[in-house]
Amino acid sequence: MQRSVFLSLAFWKHLSAIETGLQKRISKTVDHSRTIMWERLVIAALLVFAVFKVTLITYRRRKYPEPHEDWSTINLDDVHFPEGFHWGTATAAHQVEGNLLNNWTVHETARGLEASGAACDHWNRWKDDFQLLTDLGVTSYRFSIEWSRLEPTEGTWNEAALSVYSDMVDDLLKRNIRPVVTLHHFSHPDWWETKGGFADRSNIPAFVRYCERVIGALAGRVTTWVTVNEPTVFSTMGYTLGMFPPGRRSLRTTLRVMRNLLFAHGAVYKALKPKHPELQFGVAKNVTLFDPKNRWSPLDWPLARLLEWFWNGAWRNGIQNGRMFFKDVSEAKGTLDFVGLNYYTHVLVGPASVSLLKMKFPKRQQEVTTEFGYPMYAEGLARAIDFLAPLGVPIEITENGVADANDTLRTEHLKRHLWVLSQAIQDGHDVRSYHHWSLMDNFEWAEGYSMRFGLHHVDFETQERTLRTSGEVYRSIVEKH
Ligand code: FCB
Repeated sequence: MQRSVFLSLAFWKHLSAIETGLQKRISKTVDHSRTIMWERLVIAALLVFAVFKVTLITYRRRKYPEPHEDWSTINLDDVHFPEGFHWGTATAAHQVEGNLLNNWTVHETARGLEASGAACDHWNRWKDDFQLLTDLGVTSYRFSIEWSRLEPTEGTWNEAALSVYSDMVDDLLKRNIRPVVTLHHFSHPDWWETKGGFADRSNIPAFVRYCERVIGALAGRVTTWVTVNEPTVFSTMGYTLGMFPPGRRSLRTTLRVMRNLLFAHGAVYKALKPKHPELQFGVAKNVTLFDPKNRWSPLDWPLARLLEWFWNGAWRNGIQNGRMFFKDVSEAKGTLDFVGLNYYTHVLVGPASVSLLKMKFPKRQQEVTTEFGYPMYAEGLARAIDFLAPLGVPIEITENGVADANDTLRTEHLKRHLWVLSQAIQDGHDVRSYHHWSLMDNFEWAEGYSMRFGLHHVDFETQERTLRTSGEVYRSIVEKH
């Protein structure tokens, strides 16, 4: 009996051992097939993601092409411009006039930057400089008014300075040169800066008052007005990168300044257009293009699109649809009679583009790096024009040029850009003018006098101006067309 109990117990034990073993094996198999299922799912998800990415990148590559011409096969002299097309050059007050006291001179001293000082002494030599325009044969000249001269302290107006600007306009008209006047080209009185400048919306009425005064004095003789120069450059350089006054680094303030610049433009337009319907108001928009450094990189594309939207798209959306950075800017909506285009380059971006902060720019193999550090990419001018075209107003090229002290690149740079421009006009774009930056070497903001953009070389010791070879080329192009 004892033995049979023992045997049956042993049998049970054996049976349950078999059962547990079996169970273990079964659950092992289940675990295994679960793992396989997960692995398959992950692989499938990765595949779907990869296909999605490749499709997205392919779509982007098609939607945002980056054309490059084979320049060796192109006849750069084969250009055509319409009757009445304006040929011009451009300057800005702080860069040429000399001996100012404004937000910039304060910044130069505070940051230990090269001082603008006497600049081109243009305030005393403007008549001679206008003769240079006549000699070039241009029919348009873009220059800016220095607010700090006109209103050196808040509410005190320097009528003598205003009458100098008035004389300049008369002199240009006598020479059959159309004056294109910029009201704000990066510089303003320091007292206004101290109050917060464009970072504070409540400062805009003071800016409008200044514009009313200038326009009141010059309307009737000046028809084409640029309210603000390069809003994105002004706000980013001054409030994100800290290289322009007031030298701050705050993205929030940058966005606010960008919106306030739109409000300021809109406010000037609304204050003055009803009184002077014949006047044409525009903004000079710097359209820098952002391209992915690696056109197959899933990281470079979103970065490039983001920067493109921040730099260009947000502004266009603001003026076109009244929304900027998710906020209402409808006061500026539809307040453009023309748009100014300042075109210089495209920027290649990728996650390693931190070097951009040091203003070091990568380039494509076939591109040449200009002295400023960015590549020459004339093809981009057509893309910049395409970008502004949906605004539905005429385009004026308010700036285009290159820093080139030895004048080895400027002629090629000029001819390529004019060829691209001529093509764009033949494609039906309404572009009315081309202003070369610049008439002469001048004070190049944070870079001081190291960057020479002039069709004329300037000896800053003697203030002697000498036409460069590229200047002669420009003169003959102007003469021919
Ligand atoms: C533009 C500025 C202009 C000049 C050129 C080189 O961004 O508007 O004043 O400095 O660059």
